[in-house]
Amino acid sequence: MKIYAHRGYSSKYPENTLAAFYAAANLPIDGVEFDVHLTKDRQVVVIHDETIDRTSNGKGFVKDMTLQELREFDYGSWFSKEFAGARIPTLKEVLSVFRSTDLHVNIELKSDIFVYSGLEELVLREVESLEMLEQVVISSFDHEAVARVAELAPNLENAALFVNTILDIAEYQGKLPAKALHVSLPSAVRRPVREAIEKGSVVRVWTVNEVEHAALLTNTGVDAIFTDEPETMLSFFGKRNVLIEE
Ligand code: G3P
Ligand code: MG
Repeated sequence: MKIYAHRGYSSKYPENTLAAFYAAANLPIDGVEFDVHLTKDRQVVVIHDETIDRTSNGKGFVKDMTLQELREFDYGSWFSKEFAGARIPTLKEVLSVFRSTDLHVNIELKSDIFVYSGLEELVLREVESLEMLEQVVISSFDHEAVARVAELAPNLENAALFVNTILDIAEYQGKLPAKALHVSLPSAVRRPVREAIEKGSVVRVWTVNEVEHAALLTNTGVDAIFTDEPETMLSFFGKRNVLIEE
């Protein structure tokens, strides 16, 4: 089972910050996942929510602030005083952390609530300029965005994200088209996903933080799990569990 650190190493470090990404990069895992939004001045930034309210000491929508305005706030203190002063990272900064690693990098486009016109092009441009096209998978719950990525970069890996179980999910995957399916834990063990795996779909599962849940996925053909607890999952799946010092 491959292990992807969800929002970086997000159980031990503030999610989607450089601290969480450096910690993930230093683990013997397979990949990392993070979320992107577009600022008022069209910069791609790494943060989960549409607003900065939950994960910073500020308030407001990412889309209504410039990068400079967003940089004024602290994205670490909400998690622990130890991380006070953490800034919101740009896509470029996060990609740069992983460029020299062999981790698979999952960029999740958070355009399922607000339409971020041109986000796919901006993300692709950044990935291309760092020559990371083969290291990246771009996913979204916004399947229009998934289809646009397929159109703009047919060779790059794209993935459709699902909350619910979809009947004929493999057929739907072909229509989009998407190269991989990123499904929720409950739907991962249902018939449609099991059949898709049998037909050859690459399936990754979010978000698996309990070993009891991970155990349900062993020998199912699932390719990878996204987890906030990468070291727990490394121990569970019996991999080398060594943290290399920064
Ligand atoms: O990409 C997998 C997972 O991150 C999707 O859900 O809300 O954690 O972005 P969320
Ligand atoms: Mg995500």
